Amino acid sequence: MAMKRIAVMTTGGDAPGMNAAVRAVVRYATNNKVEVMGVFRGWWGLINEEMKLFDHRSVSGIINEGGTILKTMRCPEFETEEGQKRAHDNIKKHAIEGLIIIGGDGSFRAAHSFYKRYATPCIGIPASIDNDINGVYTTIGSDTAINTALTAIDNIRDTATSMERIFVVEVMGRHSGYIALQVALGGGCEEAIIPEKKYDLNNICHDIVNGNLRGKISWIIVVAEGAGSATEIARQIAELTTLETRAVVLGHIQRGGRPTAFSRTLALRLGQAAVEHLLKGDADKAVSSRNGRVELVDFETAIQKKALEADALYNLIRVLT
Ligand code: F6P
Repeated sequence: MAMKRIAVMTTGGDAPGMNAAVRAVVRYATNNKVEVMGVFRGWWGLINEEMKLFDHRSVSGIINEGGTILKTMRCPEFETEEGQKRAHDNIKKHAIEGLIIIGGDGSFRAAHSFYKRYATPCIGIPASIDNDINGVYTTIGSDTAINTALTAIDNIRDTATSMERIFVVEVMGRHSGYIALQVALGGGCEEAIIPEKKYDLNNICHDIVNGNLRGKISWIIVVAEGAGSATEIARQIAELTTLETRAVVLGHIQRGGRPTAFSRTLALRLGQAAVEHLLKGDADKAVSSRNGRVELVDFETAIQKKALEADALYNLIRVLT
């Protein structure tokens, strides 16, 4: 029997483009005569019955907005049997037949566990600035975050060259150096410190001092938050080189802002694909797009740790310095 009502939610850390994905889900489903409940604050909203019926106009004017109109949060309660039971009771109460989860690997882990317990059909749309979902080529929001960080790096470059200083810039990426590598390469930075690669601060300082002797005065070193603290690394560099060094932590600036064209179009395409697959009977999977073609990735695969192919980009950063 065809589904009559589905629900959509955003969970975990927000990512620019989530709103575009919500828009695509709501409009594509309602155009196909399927009702959509918008659930607020992710799993928490399912547990606490914070949801309402959305229509075409509920998602007007949000395509260019960062963040998520559905709000989002991390919800430890959903990891408990009792939390999942309450969510399931509310799903039944509101006659919801399928779920679309827009979020990262933590969201998919929760969806997979819920599917195993209650077999509620569930499709994931990958959204995370970190681009760290296994089997997923690229996530909604990561292109925007990289461009935001790159603009900041370009600004830092101006003052770094003018005042002939060393800068250590910390970007997001709890377990992944993806953002750091992309912005270090695109920003023409001298070094990237990432969780996937061991680094030796003495070697880096040696390079800085040698460069300094040759007349290269300013440096930008990008560090992924999962690999170390910019403040601490800058302090050590200043101590070891005796050169003027500053630390900048870009932080949550990278999570906000208007989604880029790439993040929006990816979100719209995946929103449509998620509805299509849910209505076709697929479940326990995420949609992903590679070279414009949509693929399905099992949640079981998506929740494994993603290995970042760091060497080629890292070597290019170093070669071009
Ligand atoms: O997962 C995305 C992310 O932005 C990470 O890069 C970062 O470590 C984390 O979320 C920050 O989470 P919170 O906003 O809860 O501090």
